[in-house]
Amino acid sequence: MADTTSQQGAAIESGAGANVPAVKITVRPNGPFRVEGPVSLVDVEGKEWDLTGKPAISLCRCGLSSKRPFCDGNHGREGWKCDASPIPSVPVAQG
Ligand code: FES
Repeated sequence: MADTTSQQGAAIESGAGANVPAVKITVRPNGPFRVEGPVSLVDVEGKEWDLTGKPAISLCRCGLSSKRPFCDGNHGREGWKCDASPIPSVPVAQG
């Protein structure tokens, strides 16, 4: 059975019935993705960044960081703009 998320910021029930902390990703206005929770970050070859002692990380989404995949603040210095919010769901007409 697939994992299911209970509530935002809560735990995820795994198929084995164990609860693991949920990961929260916040899309910062004009900034990075803020990732909180137990994650592993790997490149395409599976090599893993050491995130020991980091309860949260910020991932660059502007492409201007010199420390990619991490944000180094260049988005702000360069005036990068991108607001992103979920598109409200629209009920599908039944007909
Ligand atoms: S999002 Fe911060 S440097 Fe790209």
